[in-house]
Amino acid sequence: MSERFVIRGGRPLRGEVQVSGSKNASLYTLAAALLTADPVTIRNAPEIADIGEMADVCRSLGAEVEVDGTTVHLQAREFTSTAPPMDQVMALRASFLVMGPLLAREGEAACASPGGDVIGVRPLDVHLAGFRALGAEVHRAGADWAARAKRLQGARIFLDYPSVLGTVNVMFAAALAEGTTTIVNAAAEPEVAMAADLLNAMGARIRGHGTALMEIEGVERMHGADFTVVPDRIETGTYLLAGAATGGDVRVTNAQPGELDSLLTKFREMGTELDVSADGGGVRVSVPRKLQPIQVQAVPYPGFPTDLHAPMAVALTQADGVSTIHERVFDNRTAYVGELRTMGAKIITGGQTVIIEGGTPLTGAAVRALDIRAGASVVIAGLVAGGETQVSGVDHLDRGYAHLAERLTALGADVERR
Ligand code: EPU
Repeated sequence: MSERFVIRGGRPLRGEVQVSGSKNASLYTLAAALLTADPVTIRNAPEIADIGEMADVCRSLGAEVEVDGTTVHLQAREFTSTAPPMDQVMALRASFLVMGPLLAREGEAACASPGGDVIGVRPLDVHLAGFRALGAEVHRAGADWAARAKRLQGARIFLDYPSVLGTVNVMFAAALAEGTTTIVNAAAEPEVAMAADLLNAMGARIRGHGTALMEIEGVERMHGADFTVVPDRIETGTYLLAGAATGGDVRVTNAQPGELDSLLTKFREMGTELDVSADGGGVRVSVPRKLQPIQVQAVPYPGFPTDLHAPMAVALTQADGVSTIHERVFDNRTAYVGELRTMGAKIITGGQTVIIEGGTPLTGAAVRALDIRAGASVVIAGLVAGGETQVSGVDHLDRGYAHLAERLTALGADVERR
């Protein structure tokens, strides 16, 4: 039988937790390190399965990669391949990020459409249009997308959608292009800005990152760097929401409040008590009164993150009234609703809108982690529910949450991995 989390719920989470470095930013930094032949050291990477998968993708191209706890050493002296194998590409979405660096350094790259969570259509047109705008010739070669260019040329590029990975991929390619690239409608997510910070530490010339208008002055070559990844805002939000959903009192000690405006605003509307320390003390949430229902729209940053949609839905099952969450990023983010219904939640979907009738007791059941964040939602539901919840699909949780059972146990939860 495959592994499960067995949760005996009904205990409010209380205490402090320190979260890992950002999953997604760490994945981008591994790909970024392919832009130079020099060694790059990445610190504070989370100890999750996806880092190992991304390391394997980079190794398949000839890079030397050593993952030592939370530190990753990567050196891509020269490439032995410009096309990662399909099975490795299918393991995670971020694998497609090797395209930008390979194209910029080697003048060619080929990669299958990547795997990753099944949360929507997830096309690649933003990435491919960006490469074409930089002068690459892009075509389909069997299962792969193949791109070729002698030397990429800077350009003004409007992204049809502020795709996170699309922005990062085009930024990687443009960093070594000839001339200046302007990305209009760039993704402003902090993880994109962090990847740009690493590139600048490697000798790139990027401005405007963290906004919708980025300017990238291409350089001839980049060099090594030693970079520390900042804490994961989605993991932070997940623990804070678990605290709120269970009626507990949780502090994430290394939370970065400046990246959490949308979540903190919703917490205030819900009537939770917040303690936000400007001086690095993190964020604490507690629940002095019944949670109030709210309306949420999941949109690109700085809006409410789609990755916290499902965990927020669980907290709202405990609110005093009807809440709605409108998903505007992915078209298949609501599959978790069926799992929560199995646990007694009064929750329905109508198109991209989820309607949650709060004040409902949840009961333990056998449920599945359908993807990383849907997985987090059933774990939180298990912590809220009376009785025993068994969560299968633990591999999804391992992709995104380091030491999940241990961290929840430290907060007073009764969680066992079996
Ligand atoms: N889109 C396009 N064209 C493209 C690319 C995307 O139309 O070429 C659309 C998608 O269909 C979707 C929307 O843009 O509707 C958003 O997709 P985006 O490309 O921004 O997402 P992503 O880059 O594939 C990253 C994170 C996700 C996170 C989203 C949104 C990684 C590896 N993944 O995905 O993280 O939900 O940004 O913030 O960085 C997770 O961590 O669990 C996760 C799924």
